[in-house]
Order: sequence, then C-alpha cells, then structure tokens
Amino acid sequence: MDVSALGFGAWGIGGTMWIGARDDDSLKALHRAIDQGVNFIDTALVYGEGRSERLVGEVVRARREPVGVATKVPPKNLDWPAKKGVPVAKVFTADHITRSCDKSLKNLGMERVDLLQLHVWRDEWLEEDGWREAFLGLKKAGKARFLGISVNDHEPASALKAVASGLFDTVQVIFNIFDPTPAAELLPLCRTHDVGVLARVPLDEGGLTGTITPETAFPKGDWRNDYFAGDRKRQVFERTEALKKLLGSEAKTLPELALRFCLSDDAVTTVIPGMRRTTTVDANVAAADGRRLSPKLLAELAKHAWPRNFYPA
Ligand SMILES: NC(=O)c1ccc[n+]([C@@H]2O[C@H](COP(=O)([O-])OP(=O)(O)OC[C@H]3O[C@@H](n4cnc5c(N)ncnc54)[C@H](OP(=O)(O)O)[C@@H]3O)[C@@H](O)[C@H]2O)c1
Repeated sequence: MDVSALGFGAWGIGGTMWIGARDDDSLKALHRAIDQGVNFIDTALVYGEGRSERLVGEVVRARREPVGVATKVPPKNLDWPAKKGVPVAKVFTADHITRSCDKSLKNLGMERVDLLQLHVWRDEWLEEDGWREAFLGLKKAGKARFLGISVNDHEPASALKAVASGLFDTVQVIFNIFDPTPAAELLPLCRTHDVGVLARVPLDEGGLTGTITPETAFPKGDWRNDYFAGDRKRQVFERTEALKKLLGSEAKTLPELALRFCLSDDAVTTVIPGMRRTTTVDANVAAADGRRLSPKLLAELAKHAWPRNFYPA
C-alpha cells in the first residue's frame, strides 16, 4: 500500500473514552483529512463500540479516492495490555478472531479491510496454537488485505520475535519524543524485515501538544483524567515548557515537532495522531510535509526522553 505519511487516528471519534466527540465534527475532520491527501485511517472495533468504525466507513465509502482502513481485533478478555503468562487461548481464539473481523466489516460497511491488527500482543503466543490459522486465513478468505499487531504500551521489545517471524505485515507502536525506545531495536528490525510501522500516540495522548497545564480539566468520564491524574499535568507542563525552547525554524509548534520527530525515522510508514477537529487535521497535514528534523535537533530531543507509564494498569 502506498500510505500517506500522516494517517488518521480514529480512537477519539469513538467518543466513549474521549468525551466530547461530536459526529458532525468527526465526519468533517475525516473528510478534511482525505481532501488533503491523508489516505490511511486507524480505527478499532472497540473504539466507541463500533461508532468510530461506522463513521470511518461512512466517509470512506462516500469518497472516490482510495483510502486504506486499518482496524483491530480486541482481546477476548478485554484486558489491555496483554499480561505476561496469560495464554493466547484466553485472548485470541479462532472463533473470536473471525467474529470480531465480521463485526468490524459490518460496522465499516465493507467486504474487506486493508489492515487487520491484533489489538494486543505477546511474543510467547508465537509458540501457541489456536489463533494462527484463523488470523492468517482472513487474508485467503479475502477479508483482510494485510495483517499486523499492536504492541503493548511502552514495551517495544515485546514484539521483536513477531517482527522477525515474517507472519505480520505491520506493527503499531507508541513512538514519540517522550518514548523513543522503539528506535533502539524494533524499528531497525522492521526495516530489515520490511514490516510497516504505524507510529501511534505521537502526541502522548495530548501531553506533547503543549496545551496541558496544571489547571487543565478534562470532561467528566474522560479517560485522560486517569492518564494525567494527580501531579502528572504539572510534570507534563514542565517537560513541554522545556521542549518549547527547541522550537524554531525546523518546527514552530510542539505538535509539529512531535510529528516530525516520528517521521524523521525512515522505518516509520505513517504517523497516526488522534484528530477530532478540522483545525488539528490542518495543522498535522502541514507538519507531515516530508521535512525531517536535523541530526542536531534529534540529538537534543533525545535528552527529553521520559521513561514512565501513565496508562492505567
Ligand atoms: N493499543 C492501541 O492499539 C492504541 C492505543 C492508543 C492509540 N491508538 C491509535 O493511535 C492513535 C493516536 O493516539 P491517540 O489518539 O490516543 O493520542 P495522540 O495522537 O497522542 O493525541 C491525541 C490528542 O492530540 C490532540 N491533537 C492532535 N493534533 C493536534 C494539534 N495539531 N494541535 C493540538 N492538539 C492536537 C487531539 O485533539 P482533538 O482530539 O481535539 O483533535 C487529541 O486530544 C489513536 O487515535 C488510535 O488510532 C492505538
């Protein structure tokens, strides 16, 4: 697939964990992105329990341009991230994989999805049976063009064997200024094995947009109340104030800096920021203009890596 450097992350438009998404805004944002050459959208069956897929399907079916759609099979036990020691039989059974794929296709209103990803992954599962034939068989059945995995939060090393196995076409991984760890092993391995990379959470769930201050309030019920709980908004604010000192001719805003950071690694196929508004679409399209950050700036950014895991366990 010839995929645009900027992809559309469609978790937020599902609207259940990210409170405040309005379908008319989401539809406008999706159309605006495609108008400007974005040709790849990442959604999942669980995003708004099908709402994100339905919106994506509505837009893609209405357009003449080819737009690639990626979606995901949720873990049967609905447990993110996949825990060590939990057998694949509890997470991805053949029946669950097939039924989830069929539900996604129904939501999307499509006969085939371009990329189907397992929404969690552990390398131990490569040695276990029960999932492989069903998942790989979806290609032969014509229901999925390509197959991939989504790597556990901040654990890029948990998918190295998967990449080397040759079974998967893509990996989706957290890769951003705060967590550049995939660049050490996972991304070079993807380059070697010609595995596509979707850089997810490029803006640290909003942390790298530079808009979060100690006073920021998220809507009631929004999951970011947990992600940025306690003292974390202040910590993020201090980190982003320091990063702002690096803005200049190579990137004028933090989102621009953050997206260009991802796209400066040639292993990254597409970066998929979450977008619910046309204004963020416009800004991000402009940031993904092919310009890479200089080695000097990348070396400076390396000093801003921040190992931590804010996701609820
Ligand atoms: N386990 C998994 O497989 C997994 C987990 C997480 C995410 N993902 C995928 O990765 C995608 C991206 O991650 P994410 O959406 O969680 O987080 P993200 O992209 O790091 O951040 C999204 C946030 O950044 C804001 N934003 C985007 N562009 C902006 C700009 N130019 N200026 C200011 N704010 C901007 C968005 O605002 P608005 O919403 O207001 O536009 C939203 O609040 C998801 O949508 C999903 O497709 C996959």
